[in-house]
Amino acid sequence: MNKAFDSLRVSSSRLRADFDALAQFGATGDGGVHRPTFSEAHLAARAWLREQIEKAGLELRVDSAGNHSAFLNCAIKSPISNPQSLTLLLGSHLDSVPYGGRFDGALGVLAALEVVRTVKEAGVPLTMNLEAIDFTDEEGTLVGFLGSAAVAGRLTAEHLRQPRGGRAALDAGMARAGVTEQGILNAARPARSIAGYLELHIEQGKRLETARTNIGIVSAIVGIASYRLTFVGRADHAGTTSMHDRRDAAQGASAFVVAIRELVIRDFPQCVANVGNITVAPGAFNIVPASVVVSLEFRAPTADEFSRLETALLERAKIEAERFGLGLKVDFLGKHDPTPMSFTAENAFIAACDALRLSHMPLVSGAGHDGQMLVGMCAVGMIFVPSVGGASHSPREFTEWQDCVNGANVLLQAALQLASHAT
Ligand code: GLV
Ligand code: MN
Ligand code: MN
Repeated sequence: MNKAFDSLRVSSSRLRADFDALAQFGATGDGGVHRPTFSEAHLAARAWLREQIEKAGLELRVDSAGNHSAFLNCAIKSPISNPQSLTLLLGSHLDSVPYGGRFDGALGVLAALEVVRTVKEAGVPLTMNLEAIDFTDEEGTLVGFLGSAAVAGRLTAEHLRQPRGGRAALDAGMARAGVTEQGILNAARPARSIAGYLELHIEQGKRLETARTNIGIVSAIVGIASYRLTFVGRADHAGTTSMHDRRDAAQGASAFVVAIRELVIRDFPQCVANVGNITVAPGAFNIVPASVVVSLEFRAPTADEFSRLETALLERAKIEAERFGLGLKVDFLGKHDPTPMSFTAENAFIAACDALRLSHMPLVSGAGHDGQMLVGMCAVGMIFVPSVGGASHSPREFTEWQDCVNGANVLLQAALQLASHAT
């Protein structure tokens, strides 16, 4: 640890002013924000971020996947730097889910910017460059982890062919943002250029609040998979076809939705499954549903549970389709494996919490995060701060300001620890 800078802290008031300003972009009037990737509100938030980076005297970098960064070259302050210095990334995302909250992602980007600003002003000598990054499309309204997967060189044209938000939405978004498919695929960074990635995020659950603990130190991030399931029945007259003669796609799809709740609770207590969208066609009062498209997502903390859960859910879809005389079409839309975090990063966070006298506990993240994409490329670590009532992906999302500041200070001290070591 760089002892001379142990007492360095972020500016709570400056971070708060940024936080309140950013929450205006896409504000929904109920405390939330609607800022899906490459929407006008998202692009306006990014224009605002560029201004803040320039105002802070940091180097603005925008890569070909649209990722926005505030870069601090360690050569500016350190006599021991060299041109080959590695970079320590800190960050999160400015995009939101539709009608989401103002903390998810936004807190992490602004805390990262505040940390880099604080380090610059204090003139801390570093052996690594520091970079605060706003990754493109973490939330998956278009693709999911788009910017971080691009940086990690994990994206292929195949991933972009049938993204979970639909190809048409991706094309329209890219056109608005001035980003191209080729640009996204070319945004990979050299494997040995990034030393680590640290992220501060709200917990999005109740465990910290319940345990009255200041900081969650993430030990692993769950695996996430998405599928589109189409239950195929037959359109018929809703009044003249007997209940026995129908091949009603809505019955099979509904039975599936109900059954998977029981299945997950009974056989996979550490896991979750969600049907977030159901589209019935043709969609009229007086036509028996000919097809129902179901958006299925499921999550598991370990590789073993992830694969067993996948098998069980798809098997259940088949059983329910057969029970109602339906066809079933299964489209796999993508998967991210369960990912452990780095011990180096976890230890840096633990030391920072202890130095700041903040209580901490290990947690598995049930939400996906960009760090998942960077594991294998660098040391990845995350911390959580308490979410009041556990609410998230909702305008009810809220974290006490002191908790946000605590998290930013832990991020600062952990970053100083990692970026002060010889590379
Ligand atoms: C991202 O927030 C996710 O876990 O869906
Ligand atoms: Mn997030
Ligand atoms: Mn989110």
